[in-house]
This record gives sequence, C-alpha cells and structure tokens, in this order.
Amino acid sequence: MFDFDKIIERKNDKCRKWDHRFVCSRFGEVPEDFIPLWIADMDFSAPPAVIEGFQRIVQHGTFGYTSCFDEFYDAVITFQRESHHVAVERDWITLTYGTVSTLHYAVQAFCQQGDCVMMNTPVYDPFAMAAQRQGVSVLANPLKIEHGRYIIDFSLVEDQIITHRPKMWFFCSPHNPSGRIWNKEEIRQVSDLCKRHGVILVVDEVHAEHLLEGKFISCLASGCTELDNLILLTSPNKAFNLGGLKTSYSIIPDKTLRKRFRQQLEKNSITSPNIFGIWGLILAYQHGRPWLNELNVYLRNNAQFLTDAVVLHFPQWKMMTPESSYLAWIDVSESTMSATQWVNHFAHHAGVIIEDGSHYVQNGENYIRINFGTQRYWLEQAIDRMRKQYDYQRHS
Ligand SMILES: Cc1ncc(COP(=O)(O)O)c(C=O)c1O
Repeated sequence: MFDFDKIIERKNDKCRKWDHRFVCSRFGEVPEDFIPLWIADMDFSAPPAVIEGFQRIVQHGTFGYTSCFDEFYDAVITFQRESHHVAVERDWITLTYGTVSTLHYAVQAFCQQGDCVMMNTPVYDPFAMAAQRQGVSVLANPLKIEHGRYIIDFSLVEDQIITHRPKMWFFCSPHNPSGRIWNKEEIRQVSDLCKRHGVILVVDEVHAEHLLEGKFISCLASGCTELDNLILLTSPNKAFNLGGLKTSYSIIPDKTLRKRFRQQLEKNSITSPNIFGIWGLILAYQHGRPWLNELNVYLRNNAQFLTDAVVLHFPQWKMMTPESSYLAWIDVSESTMSATQWVNHFAHHAGVIIEDGSHYVQNGENYIRINFGTQRYWLEQAIDRMRKQYDYQRHS
C-alpha cells in the first residue's frame, strides 16, 4: 500500500543527512554522489495522513499561536494505550520541544553543577551533552556483552550509585545505538535501584515503535517501574520521521516531580506548541499506524539484507541483531582498520557516510553504526561501494 522503495530526492531539502556542505563540514571533503547512512533520519516521506493534514492547514493559511488542545492529549493517551498497552493520565502529559532539548531541561530542573547523571554506555551522545552543557558530569556504566547482546552490569551500577550518588539515570529504552530491547525484569531492576538510592529515572522511549524482533515493554507497563520517581520522554519523531518538527512530550506521573519540571519549562517559556508540531503528532498518532506497520516490515527486510551482507562480504565484522530501530551496530575490531579509519575511508573513498561508534559517549570505539532506514536501492549501492573498499584493504 505504501511505496517505501520510491526514491525521494533529498539533496536539496536542506536536511542535515543529505546536505553536501553539512556532511563535508562533519566528515571532511566527500564526493558529490555520496550516500548518507548516518544520522537517525529515514529517507521515507511521512505518512500520507500527515502530509494531507498539513496541506489542509497550509490551505487554510492561518498560523497563529496555539495551545495544547484536547486532541493532543487524546492522541497521546490512545496511541500509548494501543501501541504499548499502558494507561496514561492526561495530567501526566507535558508537551516539549524535542526529546533532546527536554533532556537538557530535565538536567536543569533536577541537577546542580557538580552533580552527575548515570547512563549505560555506549549511548546516544546527546545524553552526555545534556549533562555536560550544564556543568553536570557523566557517570558511565559500560554495558557488557553476553551472547552477542548488551546486558546491564547491575552489581557495578549499584556500586557506582553508592559511590557517586547520581541525581538521575538516563535510560535509553530501546537502546540506541544497538537497538536492544530491555525486558521487564531489567527495567524493574533499573527502577528498583533508582528507588532504593533516590535517583530519578528518566526513560527515553523514542525508538519504541520500530520493532524488528521481540516485544517492547514500556516503563509504564504494570509492575515495571515505581511511578513516583519516573520521567518518560518520547516523541513521534523516530516512529514517523518527523524530527524536523521538534515536538515531543513527557509523561510524569508524580505531581511534585512534574511541578518542578514544568517550572523549569516555564522559566524557558516552553509553554505553547508549534502549530505543525502539534498537528504532526496528532495526525501521525491518529492515522499513521497502517504506514508504521508496513514500514516495520520494510525495515525488518533491510535489517536482514544488511545482516546477510555483513556475513557474506565483511567476514571480519560482527553485527548485533537489531531488535528495534533502523540502526545497525557493527563490531569491526577484528578487521584491518579501526572504526574511525573505516568511517573516514568509506566517506572519502567510497562516498558512503556512516557513524563512528566512538561518538557514543564511551565503549563504542570498536563499532560503526549504519542507518538502514532508507530505500533498499541505497543500501545495495552503499554495500557494493563499501565491499570493494573492504576487499581492497583486506588484500593489499
Ligand atoms: C535515543 C534518542 N533520543 C532522542 C532522539 C531525538 O528525539 P527528538 O527528535 O524527539 O529530539 C534520538 C534521535 O536519534 C534518539 O536516538
């Protein structure tokens, strides 16, 4: 029903992913015909219902100040219930301007200079930036690998918490960059530790809707977390590829926590939504599910394609099985070059732009990350170009 194979010309749409000048500023000079498989932005157009809704708004032609009206709350409550089987109360919801900026405001609200925030590394690097930009340090808890999957080293976590007394734990669920989905027992343990030691648990669930393998458990699922020290952050931005709308929301069941968080938002005048942002969320949540379901099938096939390609063409690399999202996390430590060298080499010699795992706070140095949220055509072309360089390096 939806054509995810359709190539969309993005070189001129001013997105960071495809903008030659922007990419060169980040990766050095790269060929004009580069293929970008880096930043977590997909190359598919948004669900038709969102586009048609926006057309109606544009046609109407007024773009005045708005507020969080009922349809917004209803859309969030219904989407969370239908997608993740959780009961969200209207009062718990606060609209924000993107999950990343909300992480920054959360640090401002609950930490002081000199405090620290715990996170399981490797992890999405804005987690660290949100802390460090406020003079708050990162308490990195390195994830361990067991049977090819990341696991949390809970005894180390507890030692670290006792020693360093973090104010918050930024927990990425599902995990970016690996796509690992945490199970109920793991989330429960995270919550219990937070509760026992007075740490605020901040869960980022923005990758919860791209499910490739297994079952996602929301931190709001019954019996999963203590609700009185929980902040859930999410947005439709990954699910429906709406990142440029810069709109997200938080769910905070506890009244006192919520009040302090909202006061911090008010201090920064984060009070009324962007008209396209709020409608984008409502339209996607109300009407985007058929698109999302088909997209997940497409992403699953891309994940399989990449898994097979790595086994076949890059025998020294090991790809983690992505359980969610559209990001492949690949260990290249057994190969002839380091991750940083591979990333630079592919950018300059193959015109394929991928991410260097060393950006993911800590413990990602042996990894590269490939975004497979694109048309199969680009994935095939990129693999072909990379394979030639890989073979050349291996045999030279
Ligand atoms: C874990 C995680 N959180 C947040 C974001 C960005 O979310 P938003 O667009 O709502 O700021 C990303 C984007 O890649 C992400 O991977």
